[in-house]
Amino acid sequence: MGRGTRRAAVAALGVIAMLAAAAGARGSDAAPGARAADLARAEEIVQGQCAVCHGPDGESSTPAFPRLAGQNATYVARQLAAFKSGARRNSTMQPMVAELSEADFAALGAWYASRPTHVHPVEDPALAFAGRALWTGGNVTAGVPACVACHGADGHGGEAIPRLAGQHAMYVVRQLRQFGAREKTAENASMHLIASRLSEAEMRAVAAFVSGMK
Ligand code: HEC
Ligand code: HEC
Repeated sequence: MGRGTRRAAVAALGVIAMLAAAAGARGSDAAPGARAADLARAEEIVQGQCAVCHGPDGESSTPAFPRLAGQNATYVARQLAAFKSGARRNSTMQPMVAELSEADFAALGAWYASRPTHVHPVEDPALAFAGRALWTGGNVTAGVPACVACHGADGHGGEAIPRLAGQHAMYVVRQLRQFGAREKTAENASMHLIASRLSEAEMRAVAAFVSGMK
């Protein structure tokens, strides 16, 4: 901090008040231990560097960029560290985090976790209906476990498991393809295996389903 103008500081204070209110309303989701100063620093980074793609409130407008509002704090912090180390390869995200620290990652995680989520209409309801079966029951024949086992019945995930509820379907399909081709972080043995057993049609269907979850 210290670089911010007085106006930015005033704006940040307003956000902190909003965050405090949101934290009260959202209970356990609201990243315990996140300090106001960290959240103010995160707010500065987000509005300066991240909002152009992920939106000023984590609600990215185009499906090319993942929604981050309500995403789990630990998961976000870990992904940012993975982009920085190169464990998760992405030429867009790597330069975004190159100058940021572990403390910044934790603060950004807490900030995004505290942002309110929104309900989005499903683009293809018939496809989403088909995806629901895979989400809740997996595909026994192909050896695919039910997604709910880890991502939760509500799709909110937890700690290091990402929230999928409300995510852009196109982004979800792209991540599943990357897992299937083992192009993502080396540490995700379970998602690599699961995605490699999904057909393209299954990926599209389950992605359509989660995109409409609250
Ligand atoms: C130029 C556009 C752009 C900007 C600016 C940008 N991002 Fe991203 N971000 C992306 C794209 C594209 C992806 C998806 C990468 C992939 O496919 O693996 C992504 C992915 C992410 C993810 C992983 C989400 C998930 O569900 O796994 C996080 C977290 C993230 N960005 C945070 C940030 C933060 C914090 C900033 C600011 C410091 C930022 N991004 C700036 C484009 C951008
Ligand atoms: C054994 C637990 C487990 C099961 C079962 C599981 N996942 Fe995952 N999933 C994870 C973990 C852990 C991650 C985070 C990996 C990482 O850190 O990159 C993840 C990540 C993902 C992501 C990336 C999200 C993002 O924001 O980038 C998608 C998409 C996904 N899973 C979809 C699914 C679908 C669809 C199913 C069911 C077919 C499923 N998962 C079943 C544990 C699981």
